[in-house]
Amino acid sequence: MTPLIRAEGLSKSYKTGETTLEVLSDLHFSILPGETAAVVGVSGVGKSTLLHILGTIDRPTSGRVLFEDRDPFGLNSADLARFRNETIGFVFQFHHLLPEFSAVENVMMPALIRRLPRREARERAEALLEEVGVSNRRGHRVGQLSGGEAQRVAIARALVLEPRVLLADEPTGNLDPRTAGTIQDLILGLNLRKKLTILMATHNEKMAAGMGRQLHLSDGKLNP
Ligand SMILES: Nc1ncnc2c1ncn2[C@@H]1O[C@H](COP(=O)(O)OP(=O)(O)OP(=O)(O)O)[C@@H](O)[C@H]1O
Ligand SMILES: [Mg+2]
Repeated sequence: MTPLIRAEGLSKSYKTGETTLEVLSDLHFSILPGETAAVVGVSGVGKSTLLHILGTIDRPTSGRVLFEDRDPFGLNSADLARFRNETIGFVFQFHHLLPEFSAVENVMMPALIRRLPRREARERAEALLEEVGVSNRRGHRVGQLSGGEAQRVAIARALVLEPRVLLADEPTGNLDPRTAGTIQDLILGLNLRKKLTILMATHNEKMAAGMGRQLHLSDGKLNP
């Protein structure tokens, strides 16, 4: 089976002043279509950095990331944005929803940017809010939602364009165990029902154990 994502010699370092911090060092791994994997490791080890690069939000310092043998970083910025829009759903560590807009407007946003008709965008958004269990809050502004509700809205937003892969960065980081469990069930259900490929960074050992694979990040290296 052709991997959905392949990293080849992926490295990332940050320069601050005189010093260079090598966060990811020559990583090689693949993710198959339909797989679920957890990225685990202590705070500051580079989990968000890795997810941002796989999400094409950030670029590697060296090495390549291939999506079904295509290198998105070779695209110009308009094509890269389009690729990202069509392929990747991203749930950020800090949800990055727009606080002044309602839940349903936030979920519709990527679809409107993609120029889907407004009615279709709204229908998709409402169906997803139902699926993630917050349809009764669809008219709430994000600033009026609880942390768990906002996180679910962020998951719905990530799914509105039916991505091939969901990259979720600590989607339950700030939630109580029960709400975290609900979000885990939700994410795993999406994998089962839609064959969605999922890569999730998490500190939560129970969440990590529920994923098909665990990728351990330490000292810039990934150990399966
Ligand atoms: N833009 C940046 N410039 C310089 N250093 C950075 C930058 N972004 C991240 N870092 C550093 O890179 C390292 C990895 O950060 P990253 O956010 O990927 O860690 P993480 O594993 O996601 O941590 P956490 O579990 O706390 O979310 C950290 O030491 C951080 O300080
Ligand atoms: Mg992080």
